[in-house]
Amino acid sequence: MNTMAGSSPEVIGIAAVARNGVIGAGGDIPWRIREDLARFKALTTGHVLIMGRKTYDSIGRPLPGRTTVVVTRDPDWNADGVIVAHDVESAFALAYALEPTKIFVAGGGEIYAAAWPRLGVLEITEVDLEPPGDVGFPPIEHAQWQERSRVSAEGYAFVQYVRRSA
Ligand SMILES: NC(=O)c1ccc[n+]([C@@H]2O[C@H](COP(=O)([O-])OP(=O)(O)OC[C@H]3O[C@@H](n4cnc5c(N)ncnc54)[C@H](OP(=O)(O)O)[C@@H]3O)[C@@H](O)[C@H]2O)c1
Repeated sequence: MNTMAGSSPEVIGIAAVARNGVIGAGGDIPWRIREDLARFKALTTGHVLIMGRKTYDSIGRPLPGRTTVVVTRDPDWNADGVIVAHDVESAFALAYALEPTKIFVAGGGEIYAAAWPRLGVLEITEVDLEPPGDVGFPPIEHAQWQERSRVSAEGYAFVQYVRRSA
């Protein structure tokens, strides 16, 4: 629950997703798109990121200008410059306490799936590839999500979805 009376932060899932749903392979992202990294930075700077411990490990450091909440079941896990939560509920409670406007769920696959019911907006980079991979993004069902904007470029598109009201 948001602690700021009268305002409720937007909870946004942000991901780069291949045509076959793949988002990760061998602990990493199987492509590099400079414009996507720049967009991630532009959208998330000044806000809170929630991410799984494996995603944090793949980045290896807290991202500057953002507050990072890392979710792990390991009671001994720690890293400088991040906030640790031991379940998804606590991660959101911490994020709500910190963040009056936007909370970004930044992956990976386990955390997108666990946070799915809380997401109201998706900022997706559709990547025009079908790479092999071992981690996927939940299906974006048309019945559940409405496309609000799309900016296409060579090899990728930035697409925003909003959750349809029940
Ligand atoms: N394309 C993209 O936009 C994008 C974005 C982010 C990540 N990725 C990729 O996705 C992959 C990582 O995704 P992943 O699904 O393997 O891992 P993940 O979601 O990043 O992290 C999984 C870890 O989070 C913790 N966790 C998960 N659910 C939990 C819960 N309910 N309570 C407490 N802790 C919980 C556990 O940590 P412990 O094991 O420490 O307990 C678990 O091992 C990598 O390949 C990464 O590069 C891609």
